[in-house]
Amino acid sequence: MNKKEIYNEVALQISAVIEGETSKTARYATAACLLNEAFDYFFWTGFYVVDPLKTTELVVGPYQGSLGCLRIPLGKGVCGTAAELGKTVIVEDVHEFPGHIACDSRSNSEIVVPVFDKEGSLAAVLDIDSTQLGSFDTEDKAGLEYICKTLLV
Ligand code: SME
Repeated sequence: MNKKEIYNEVALQISAVIEGETSKTARYATAACLLNEAFDYFFWTGFYVVDPLKTTELVVGPYQGSLGCLRIPLGKGVCGTAAELGKTVIVEDVHEFPGHIACDSRSNSEIVVPVFDKEGSLAAVLDIDSTQLGSFDTEDKAGLEYICKTLLV
């Protein structure tokens, strides 16, 4: 299967599992698990959610992988940058991204996709780290942005 087919397949699996589930945590946890299993070079796949009590910070949500940092201020690191811009950020080589927050030295490339709520406000970001350089391209962006849209409650 090529990347596009894998994303289509995972999107179907996620929507089948979360159908009728209103818990955001359960929806995000399902997406993190199924995406992490879909590609063998993904080693950290998960969400940083906007802290409702401190909206200038992201706080870690459901994830698969090694220990992630708990909080990221908006504008900091790849996650905080994507959150601030409200746009997907692809980093081919994290070692060259100014301000990259290194949670695990195995990370070489990264994609961060914003998740919006029904009102269009930022709810979270989906962060995926790869052990390889240059893992993410416009196909990942399209596949993951589509999946993130299906996670709204
Ligand atoms: N590398 C991210 C931090 C989160 S971890 O990779 C899990 C960043 O720079 O935002």
